[in-house]
Amino acid sequence: GLPARVRIHEVGARDGLQNEQGVVPTEVKAEFVRRLAEAGLTTVEATSFVHPKWVPQLADAEQLFPLVSGLDGVRLPVLVPNERGLDRALALGARDVAVFASATESFARANLNRTVDEALAMFAPVVTRAVEHGLSVRGYLSMCFGDPWEGPVPVEQVVAVCRRLRDLGCDELSLGDTIGVATPGHVTRLLTALGEAGIPATALAVHFHDTYGQALANTLAALQHGVTTVDASAGGLGGCPYAKSATGNLATEDLVWMLHGLGIDTGVDLGRLTATSVWLAGQLGRPSPSRTVRALGGA
Ligand code: HMG
Ligand code: MG
Repeated sequence: GLPARVRIHEVGARDGLQNEQGVVPTEVKAEFVRRLAEAGLTTVEATSFVHPKWVPQLADAEQLFPLVSGLDGVRLPVLVPNERGLDRALALGARDVAVFASATESFARANLNRTVDEALAMFAPVVTRAVEHGLSVRGYLSMCFGDPWEGPVPVEQVVAVCRRLRDLGCDELSLGDTIGVATPGHVTRLLTALGEAGIPATALAVHFHDTYGQALANTLAALQHGVTTVDASAGGLGGCPYAKSATGNLATEDLVWMLHGLGIDTGVDLGRLTATSVWLAGQLGRPSPSRTVRALGGA
C-alpha cells in the first residue's frame, strides 16, 4: 500500500542553486528559503559548507544561514564534506547536517577528490562529532543506479556503501540517482536488496533527477516499497556541477501534484509553492522546467 503522509526534503536552495551558471544574490536565496517554508515545506536544505572554489554558487553559506535559521518549525540541513565543513556549520548553530558519499570511484574522485574509502574515512569523524552534538546526520549516496563514466552500477555495490554509511552512524540515507537514469524496476530491485541487507525503507529517502522523465515513476515505486521521505527541488531546479549529464531534480510541484492526487498528505500548499518557483524563475531569467509549474503558474 501507499503511505498516508510523505515528508518532502526540499533541495532547491542547495542542489538547485549550486548548479546555476551565475551566483544568485544571498538575499534572493534567503527569500527563496523563507517562501519555501511558508509554502509548508518542513525540511529545506539550505546550503553547503564545502570548499568555495569547488562550489562558488554556495560560497555565501556564512552569510545566508543566519538569515534563515530563525524559521519556526523548519529544519535546515546543510552539506558538510569534512570536519572543516562541520566546524563552519556548528559555528552557525546548524542542527541537521549531511555527508555525501558515492557508490562509484569515478564520482568520488570528481566530487570529493577522494577514493570511496578515503571519502568514508573523511566522513567518519564528521558523523561521530555531529552525533555527539545531537545533530541529525543524513548520508547521501550518489550514483546509486548509473554513473556517467562507469555505466550501470551493480546493486550489491550500492548496498555495500549504504551499510558503511549506516555503520558510521547516519540516521537517514538518501539514494541518489544523480544522472537520472533509474527506472522503476531498478528502484524496486535496489530497495529489495537493501531490505535483505537489513536496511529498512523507513531509514531511506529517494533522490531522483528527471533526466529521462522517470523521476515520478521511480518515486511511486519507492513509495510502494515503504519509503516515506522524498527529495525534490522547487521548480525542478538543479543538476550537479561534478556530473555533467545530471539535469534537473524531480520538481517539488510535480511530486506534490502526484501525492495529493493519490490522497497522500504533504503539508504543502501547492499554490504558494508554484508562486515561489514562478518568482524564482523571474529572478533567474528563465522559465521553470516543471510541467506542473507551467500548468498552474502561467509561466
Ligand atoms: P580538496 O581540494 O581535496 O581539499 O577538496 P583538501 O582537504 O585537500 O583541502 C584543501 C584546502 O581546502 C585547504 O585550504 C582546506 O582548508 C580547504 P588550504 O589549507 O589549502 O588553504 N577546505 C575547505 N574550506 C572551506 N570549507 C571546507 C573545506 N574543506 C577543505 N569544507 C573537498 C576536498 C571535499 C573539500 C572538496 O572536494 C569539496 O568541497 N567538494 C564538494 C563538492 C560538492 O559540493 N558537490 C556537490 C554536492 S554533492 C551532490 O550534489 C549530489 C547530491 O545532490 C545527491 C545526488 O544527486 O547524487 C547530494
Ligand atoms: Mg542531487
